[in-house]
Amino acid sequence: MAETTNTIKHVASPLARQTLLDGDLVRPVAGVRPIRLLPWLQVVKIGGRAIMDRGAEAILPIVDELRKVLPEHRLLILTGAGIRARHLYGVGLDLGLPVGSLAPLAASEAGQNGHILASLLAPEGVSYVEHPTIASQLAIHLAAARAVVGSAFPPYHHHEFPGSRIPVHRADTGAFLLADALGAAGLTIVEDVDGVYTADPNGAAGAKAELLRETNATELAKQETLPFDRALLDVMANARHLERVQVVNGLVPGRITAALRGEHVGTIVHTGLRPL
Ligand SMILES: Nc1ncnc2c1ncn2[C@@H]1O[C@H](COP(=O)(O)OP(=O)(O)OP(=O)(O)O)[C@@H](O)[C@H]1O
Ligand SMILES: [Mg+2]
Repeated sequence: MAETTNTIKHVASPLARQTLLDGDLVRPVAGVRPIRLLPWLQVVKIGGRAIMDRGAEAILPIVDELRKVLPEHRLLILTGAGIRARHLYGVGLDLGLPVGSLAPLAASEAGQNGHILASLLAPEGVSYVEHPTIASQLAIHLAAARAVVGSAFPPYHHHEFPGSRIPVHRADTGAFLLADALGAAGLTIVEDVDGVYTADPNGAAGAKAELLRETNATELAKQETLPFDRALLDVMANARHLERVQVVNGLVPGRITAALRGEHVGTIVHTGLRPL
């Protein structure tokens, strides 16, 4: 073992001589909080089904609201997938396609919704940008424009985790991963309901569903239904920057604006962020 180690041509690094699998060895080097890349950024995730599928009636007032908040905030607007992804899951599952084949197809609908939204905001200098641009050129885009639009789906694509036949990492997870990795100031999840309820307000037990003003990822894990990806709860447990997200009703004028201003107008979900 020692001989093997000695033949490796090391470069000077605190991690050079050890496996990355030993948490005790890695922690002193990797256990510090990462820097915030874009601390002034506000990320807004627009629901594919909840908002985009409703067409002009829902989209145009939101476009108007987003346009008006541009002088106040710099935004990364991320869109989810809606009815076309549902149709695609239906056909694909029927044909036996694996989850890794379905994930990129569903993601492409999130991108389509992003293109639609970006077209409507184009007069404000807003454009749709692909993931590689978000990864490496978001800062320059946001120096040139107050906002950009992208797909909220994370690019797990063919690497999507098996277990469920429907991709588990969808738009909410993708939006959170990006916002947290960028060290954004906030993430607002825009739905067609006032926030997170104790049960689906549009479901069979809807009449008894109560709106939760404030909750946390651990509490929500006990609930059977959620207005966002269940995988988001796991991701929240390991948040590095975002201490909370707010779920708001985008169909009520003013809610997105208020949320971006830090007002409590929906459900605040606390992540598992702990001081390092
Ligand atoms: N506990 C809950 N609290 C609030 N809404 C819930 C809950 N459980 C289920 N829902 C339902 O979730 C719906 C929103 O659906 P969904 O989250 O799939 O849409 P979306 O956010 O537009 O989708 P996407 O993530 O693809 O963009 C709400 O209209 C509501 O009926
Ligand atoms: Mg949702």
